[in-house]
Amino acid sequence: MSSEPFEPKIIGFLCNWCSYRAADLAGTSRIKHAPNVRAIRVMCSGRVDPTFVLKALASGADGVMIAGCHPGECHYIEQNYKTMRRFAMLKHTLRALGIEEERVRLQWASAAEGAQLAAAIDEMVEQIRRLGPLNWPKNWAEDGGRAHALESLPKEHAEAMEVPA
Ligand code: FES
Repeated sequence: MSSEPFEPKIIGFLCNWCSYRAADLAGTSRIKHAPNVRAIRVMCSGRVDPTFVLKALASGADGVMIAGCHPGECHYIEQNYKTMRRFAMLKHTLRALGIEEERVRLQWASAAEGAQLAAAIDEMVEQIRRLGPLNWPKNWAEDGGRAHALESLPKEHAEAMEVPA
């Protein structure tokens, strides 16, 4: 077994208009933060389909941060309210899959909030470090119940998904 300390791999979906610039500002201001977040720039937090998050986790990420403009300041009017609704649904799905919901984080950060974003990144890295590696691919291969949980999701919610004729 490796004695290397666990370094969480975190994917960050950052909104182009605010949090991506906040990350830039943190860099240019030389604000130190954990280097564990791989940033992916999106035009708006509302662009982040929950399947992107599940795909990131299934592909080996230990956590995912979605960062966007503060409520009321979205450049696409109210897409970040949609982000909030999707985030609640996403946490519900993760719980159903037996995955700790603390592995995903929704963070608001304006372009001027480099220090706040850096602090949020550090906090999330520490939180995921405490949780340990997700190891989704391994857990699925061993079928720790997650494959079954995913298959049973549509059955549990069949009624809600019915489209009236
Ligand atoms: S443009 Fe930033 S969250 Fe929508």
